[in-house]
Amino acid sequence: MPKQIQVNGFAIFSPVHLSPGLWRHPDDRSLDFDTLDYWTDVARILEAGKFDSIFIADGIGIHDVYAGTADAALRSGAQIPKLDPMLLVSAMAHVTEHLGIGVTAPVSYEPPFTLARRFSTLDHLTKGRVAWNIVTGYSNAASRAVGRDNIMPHDPRYDLADEFLDAVYALWEGSWDDEAIVVDPIKGVIADPHHIRKVHHHGAHFKVDAIHLAHPSPQRTPFLFQAGASNRGKDFAARHAEAVFLGEHSKARTAANVAETRARARAFGRDEHDIRFYALTTAIVAETRVAAEAKYRDYQRYIDPKGSLALLSGWTGIDLSRYSLDDPFPTVKKDNAVTSMIDSFSRSERPWTIREIIEHNGIGGRGPVIVGSPAEVADELQAWVGETGIDGFNLSYAVTPGGYQDFAELVVPELQRRGVYKTEYAPGTLREKVFGTGRARLPLSHPAASFRPSAAGRTPKAASA
Ligand SMILES: Cc1cc2nc3c(=O)[nH]c(=O)nc-3n(C[C@H](O)[C@H](O)[C@H](O)COP(=O)(O)O)c2cc1C
Repeated sequence: MPKQIQVNGFAIFSPVHLSPGLWRHPDDRSLDFDTLDYWTDVARILEAGKFDSIFIADGIGIHDVYAGTADAALRSGAQIPKLDPMLLVSAMAHVTEHLGIGVTAPVSYEPPFTLARRFSTLDHLTKGRVAWNIVTGYSNAASRAVGRDNIMPHDPRYDLADEFLDAVYALWEGSWDDEAIVVDPIKGVIADPHHIRKVHHHGAHFKVDAIHLAHPSPQRTPFLFQAGASNRGKDFAARHAEAVFLGEHSKARTAANVAETRARARAFGRDEHDIRFYALTTAIVAETRVAAEAKYRDYQRYIDPKGSLALLSGWTGIDLSRYSLDDPFPTVKKDNAVTSMIDSFSRSERPWTIREIIEHNGIGGRGPVIVGSPAEVADELQAWVGETGIDGFNLSYAVTPGGYQDFAELVVPELQRRGVYKTEYAPGTLREKVFGTGRARLPLSHPAASFRPSAAGRTPKAASA
């Protein structure tokens, strides 16, 4: 069977995600973002198109780097207002049966115990369809919002994330045995204390001494998404991630990232195919190429350059108001930044000016914008998969939910005709749908497995920490 292309819908709980200004387009429903009807419609559209999952971006900082204030972000609605995506999961799960639902949650602002409990709750309520996009956070604004000083330096943030994961793995994998729930009405017993143990994690950043409050959920550890692409970020992904989300504009940079992360996963003793790679992409599709190009030109008229600059400054930590639009993208090393994004613009195959980046990023962010008929879009998607080693696409949009709907109605049938896209969902949890039946839980080669009590009944790793 030819390699099957996977697709994830990329979203945010805000009126503006990666296409600032497009909320003004008559076909766009972004302003309904604060209604459950909008999100249940999106979930149904994605499931009708047999998307593997939706991934909701998040971050608790406002974009306030441009001109040293949040004004540009506030005026353009550049990811503000922004609501809490965890609270959407149950509603979307309730109207779907198969769609994986990924939510972003940072490791920097709350204890592992409370986050582990919320994800276990969602894993139960979704019947094993929840995913966690693990982020360290990159913004000083977020850090200050929760009473901290500026954000920690870049690499130590990943050390903290490694420790956070040790603690949540111990709670998810090690606190309750599968046999712990007994429900014996005769004896009046619900759970057997012999099969439940306290986690003791005493690390540099976190301390946990507790029994996990949630009984074992279908996946135990939620399906793990990650999107860091720096040197340290790739190590982190190689160790923990099951799906890596890439945001590159070129096939060459994408291919290099995939190869490097897979090699590191092998070095950590994991099977390199236990990580799926998704490339950020926007498809603008219509029945004919001419119609698709007209659509693209129409969307471009709505791009809001100030909104784009607010986002770019926020992500890179560089105040772009200090530069002319025709300057090349500056190469400044920042700690409050997505450092891989600075590299991708400044150390690219060719130098990008700020104006070019706005024009490119203004619709759908950093990934490619593929414009054409269904056959042309399918050709280009297959070329990306063939030339880069990715497994699929993280689909952004110009207008929502129309961008997803066009893809589901025009591109998906074309990919199905070519035999490279599922016609039915696989049964089971999200992990089983992606990796196969019998894989509801993480494999033994994943670091989380070391926190399980072994078959021989040895003490699990964190309990002896
Ligand atoms: C497609 C994509 C989606 C991302 N989504 C988020 C997000 O929702 N929240 C966040 O804080 N960071 C997000 N990031 C940033 C990364 O998670 C990571 O923090 C960032 O890339 C910095 O790490 P790095 O320097 O290792 O790349 C995203 C990155 C990419 C490429």
